[in-house]
Amino acid sequence: MKKNRISLNRLVYRDRYLSQDQAPLFVNPQNPTWKLPSPESIRYHQPPTPPEGSLSIPYDGLLHGADYNPDQWLNAEGLVREEILKEDIRLMKKSGCNVMSVGIFAWATLEAEEGRYDFRWLRQVMDKLYENGIYTILATPSGARPHWLTDRYPETSRVDAFGRRHGKGGRHNHCYTSPLYREKVREMNSALAREFGGHPGLLLWHVSNEYSGDCHCPLCVAAFRDYLKQRYQRIEHLNAAWWTSFWSHNYQSFDQIDPPSPLGEMELHGLKLDWRRFQSAQTLDFFIEEIKPLRELTPKVPLTTNFHEFVDPLDGLDYWIFAPYIDVISWDNYPYWHGERKAKVEAARRAFIHDINYSLKRKPFLLMESSPGATNWQPVAKQRRPGMHALASMQAVAHGSNSVQYFQWRKGLGGSEKFHAAVVDHYPTENTRMFREIAGLGQDLSRLSPLHAADRPQAQVAIINDWDNLWALNDAEGPRRKGRDYFDTLVAHYQPFFDRGISCEVIDSRCDFSAYKLLIAPMLYLMKPGVATRMEEFVRAGGTLVTGYFSGVVNETDLCFTNGRPGPLKALVGLWSEELDALYDGESCPVKAEPDSGLKGPYEAHTFCEYTHLEGAKALALFDADYYKGCPALSENRFGLGKAYYIAFRSSDAFLDDFLGGLADQIGLKRAIQIPLPEALTAALREDGQNAYILLQNYGDSAQSLSLDRDYTDALSGEALKGEIVMPAYSYRVLQRPSHQI
Ligand code: GLA
Ligand code: ZN
Repeated sequence: MKKNRISLNRLVYRDRYLSQDQAPLFVNPQNPTWKLPSPESIRYHQPPTPPEGSLSIPYDGLLHGADYNPDQWLNAEGLVREEILKEDIRLMKKSGCNVMSVGIFAWATLEAEEGRYDFRWLRQVMDKLYENGIYTILATPSGARPHWLTDRYPETSRVDAFGRRHGKGGRHNHCYTSPLYREKVREMNSALAREFGGHPGLLLWHVSNEYSGDCHCPLCVAAFRDYLKQRYQRIEHLNAAWWTSFWSHNYQSFDQIDPPSPLGEMELHGLKLDWRRFQSAQTLDFFIEEIKPLRELTPKVPLTTNFHEFVDPLDGLDYWIFAPYIDVISWDNYPYWHGERKAKVEAARRAFIHDINYSLKRKPFLLMESSPGATNWQPVAKQRRPGMHALASMQAVAHGSNSVQYFQWRKGLGGSEKFHAAVVDHYPTENTRMFREIAGLGQDLSRLSPLHAADRPQAQVAIINDWDNLWALNDAEGPRRKGRDYFDTLVAHYQPFFDRGISCEVIDSRCDFSAYKLLIAPMLYLMKPGVATRMEEFVRAGGTLVTGYFSGVVNETDLCFTNGRPGPLKALVGLWSEELDALYDGESCPVKAEPDSGLKGPYEAHTFCEYTHLEGAKALALFDADYYKGCPALSENRFGLGKAYYIAFRSSDAFLDDFLGGLADQIGLKRAIQIPLPEALTAALREDGQNAYILLQNYGDSAQSLSLDRDYTDALSGEALKGEIVMPAYSYRVLQRPSHQI
């Protein structure tokens, strides 16, 4: 152990400071033949053309299941303990589960020694599950490495921004460039595909787990340099694009470029932005290599990889570049219920991320993980109040998920997730309120099985959520170091639609806008080439655009536009923004609506106020204090057949609700149900051509009643519904009507 630690330190030393030929060859005592590949051999690969179309999951119903880790319950013979497996299957059936995700972190039990595969326990589990009507989503175990692999091949471990190489243990800490890791993953995935590709219980591949994070090892640095070479061709182009003359940091060659690091360069935003892009691109490259054997050996088995929540402002991967290579999108949802935020607001945040995942392929997706109770890693792991778990699960279905799956089926007795909720607790009884709620949900999901073939109708609203913009905006050093809150701002613009049961897609600025009537692009700080022109075409043809403060500021390499803000959007919004003022926390500025604007008010601006001059647009609201008193706070510009609105301030929810709600009425946006919804309620729609299913959700902690606009059938109980219905606290109802009747 001690010996190994010394070796790792030497390895770090060599990686970071010495080139390959300067360094005395490091000898790994455990694997004397191991040699770090030469960085010169590393290339960045442009992604291949994605496959046409995608495979669908061969299951006619909604999936209900969990991450299942029976490899934590092996006996001395290397098989799953019979009594555990038997009891698990009994409880799976009792809770209405029809699928399990297996093998996610099981590498060490599947290949305990290099090249010696042992699939007996996995076969035992897949066979038993299948015999009992439960399908398997089979994982590739690349998310965590067995110790032998790290010991023998240290290059497979990630290096952090301080040049320190990770040791053994942990997860999601492998190098995405390492040819050796790719090779080991290829061998494992090929073996799995050969062994289980023909298993009748195999429903879907679950590729790795929540890809994420950066690696700064010499191989990744070499790939990054090659990526930049391919992107900029000449070093002068890169210097110009990144404005490297700032603090005299011009590069003479691509070989001088290191990734951003607190020990080195952190002030070139172009470098940081390209590093984020490269991380996405290189992770995609790894993914494409990881799935090669699965595609070759099991061409008919669909695959997914479970995406992370969209939460970390400076991290994350651009999922749009992954989507074309994936058959079915899936993601892991961990909401914070019963906390500071009202449940309806938290629900909107979650719905927004569901909508990102739907929009990635404009197809139903899978909820791959969710907690069936308290989520132990959250700062406060509060228990769900009765009904909330089932409601949150049905929310996913309402927004297009064809599954409800949990992390985790059975709680381990040790390890950091031993207090994470599971369907089966340490005391494995089904006599718990959570188990009953899960079993009830299981029944409902089975009654709703026709929904798997019901899609969401085409949304008329799209909100732009752009990863490049997210990275650049969050990295900008001004106008407020804190509180830029891109995600919260997007959700604030989404909330009025969510509250009214109006379906939205959440798209990237590269997407086609023509399918929508209303396009919302808050804080579109970074604008990629061509986006403004496509927005102009969209509005000219009759579309409505809403954008606002801190938009149109920089180009795709984070260089400021010089034609006045909002840069390429200036003509479209018909104004010039001279200054962006940042307010201290607690400060505000009143905003007064113009008499003919249709708005109420007065409203309050906070955090950001822009001092703008109209150049063709018309003011609908004005600031009512400070040096911008009388200046436009909201304006409308007619452009071709459509209109472009500019919101020059960060607003209270009341303003966004009045303004965007008013726009929804003016444009005549479709709602899931044509009745005013009580405040705590929302609704979403899925249709299969024959039937429309309206998924009503009550996020309030008290019962709510509402009057129906027509006759419906309750899709769960089969009873006829008309007139007033009552929805208990934290509950859902699914109303069914023939599709063609509105
Ligand atoms: C993530 C992981 C799971 C598990 C859960 C716990 O989403 O994918 O393996 O750790 O978190 O909430
Ligand atoms: Zn690396």
